[in-house]
Amino acid sequence: MLKIEKLCCNYKQIIALSDVSLHINRGEMISLIGANGAGKTTLLRAISGLQNPKSGNIYFENKNITKLESHDVAKLGIAQIPEGRGLFSILSVEENLRLGAYIRDDNEIELDIEKIYSQFPILKEKSKEYAGTLSGGQQQMVAVGRALMSRPKLLLLDEPSMGLAPIIVEEIFEAIKILRDSGTTIFIVEQNAFLALSVTDRAYVLENGRIVMSGNSVELLEDEGVKEAYLGA
Ligand SMILES: Nc1ncnc2c1ncn2[C@@H]1O[C@H](COP(=O)(O)OP(=O)(O)OP(=O)(O)O)[C@@H](O)[C@H]1O
Ligand SMILES: [Mg+2]
Repeated sequence: MLKIEKLCCNYKQIIALSDVSLHINRGEMISLIGANGAGKTTLLRAISGLQNPKSGNIYFENKNITKLESHDVAKLGIAQIPEGRGLFSILSVEENLRLGAYIRDDNEIELDIEKIYSQFPILKEKSKEYAGTLSGGQQQMVAVGRALMSRPKLLLLDEPSMGLAPIIVEEIFEAIKILRDSGTTIFIVEQNAFLALSVTDRAYVLENGRIVMSGNSVELLEDEGVKEAYLGA
């Protein structure tokens, strides 16, 4: 579904990604793990059309999307939940959710809003409140809900666990798993390697802008190098 070939991204003289190649099959849940500054966010932004790669190619459903603008990438069915959630804090919860549907012109938007409220009942209770007044976990639920409102084929999540209490992280990941079970392909970027490897099918390890390891998540969890570098073992 997604294929990245030898992607390179720079910020002026800083090399953020070098020769990154990876693929994601339809229906898979994949993670990208790596330390602070490894280039994880840069990779997601490049996929979403928010970052111009220096070289390399990104294909989505066999279409070369490397040079597309972000709204055209969104129209193809790729949604990103950015680092820090990217909500509009002075819009209501429901207004934020509706913004996620801006690329749609069908008549099932109300139906999807109700679906999100049944998955996260607290959002229904708070539907008229400013998103900025919600707790971190509730804001992450709004961010997930807003991404779902675009009915994405591929969902990109940038550190969904960041800054959240473990119990809330569990709730968010439960919601992500339900999504996966309903057929959405998912790519999760995480610094929390244990969490990411526990829920995904396969994973890639990014160090200083390069993929240094990849494989089955269960196997990576047992890998001595991964344990030492990322699992505090
Ligand atoms: N706007 C920018 N201008 C200059 N350098 C940047 C910019 N954004 C990121 N970088 C640099 O590019 C490299 C990769 O950053 P990136 O944000 O992609 O990493 P990350 O893996 O997402 O890190 P984190 O875990 O902190 O979110 C880092 O060296 C970072 O300092
Ligand atoms: Mg990042």
